[in-house]
Amino acid sequence: MKFEILTLFPEMIMDSLRTSILGRAMEKGIISAKAVNIRDYADNKHHSVDDYTYGGGAGMLMQAQPVYDCIHAVLTEDAEKIEEETEKSVRDILKERKQTRVIYVTPQGRVFDQAMAEEFSKAEELIFLCGHYEGIDERVLEETVTDYVSIGDYVLTGGELPALVMIDAISRLIPGVLGSEESAPGDSFQNGLLEYPQYSRPAVWHGKEVPKILLSGDHAKVDAWRLEQSIERTRERRPDLFAAWEAAEQERIEREKAEKLRLKEERRRLRELNDDRSQGTV
Ligand code: ADE
Repeated sequence: MKFEILTLFPEMIMDSLRTSILGRAMEKGIISAKAVNIRDYADNKHHSVDDYTYGGGAGMLMQAQPVYDCIHAVLTEDAEKIEEETEKSVRDILKERKQTRVIYVTPQGRVFDQAMAEEFSKAEELIFLCGHYEGIDERVLEETVTDYVSIGDYVLTGGELPALVMIDAISRLIPGVLGSEESAPGDSFQNGLLEYPQYSRPAVWHGKEVPKILLSGDHAKVDAWRLEQSIERTRERRPDLFAAWEAAEQERIEREKAEKLRLKEERRRLRELNDDRSQGTV
């Protein structure tokens, strides 16, 4: 997976990505990440990237030219010598590269969740466009952006932190990024439920005991207890998630019932056919 983060604050991105688990994944070559300074693409001598908004209003807007040229350069950097490719528009390049997404990080986007993290983790290249000031000229967004994504209903000063949040959530789903001891199939949201409570040594701490079942060594019972705890915790803390999980469970049970009935009916018909055959009526 290749991440490119287009920003006015590249050091904010790279300092953060280099540390911890993602830094190790970059060293191993499982993911690559590069912050690109949009200011380097400004075609004026002061390298300014913002201007006043038409129609008035407070604040400055990031201009179309540096943003467009930055995205175009990132998309064509591996094809520098192939003139045909560098002459194509961003839109035409993206039409051909279905595995490349240009994500504009904005409070006006679809709200990021685990399902989106999973979807994005299957792409080959993710380009995050981080806005600042009052936003970005609409025309360049129309020409380049494939996905508008928010990390929640609140407004931050820029897109860098949201981009980092998304890159973290996406990277940990890429095979090999988490070590086997870190990967957690019981992760919250992975099955539509929050994760169950967990305990480590000592068995008694501040007078509080670890639930006895976890010391029993009976894996089936431990699994059943964990599922029960997950369900209870989700019901209490996230009634919205619980309602969605319950509806999906109900649907699954109905589907299984219908399938059982279908198999039973098929077996009955086969039996009848066999009986008819043995009685010579067919
Ligand atoms: N930029 C500013 N606030 C944001 C948010 N909540 N999500 C994504 N990008 C943003």
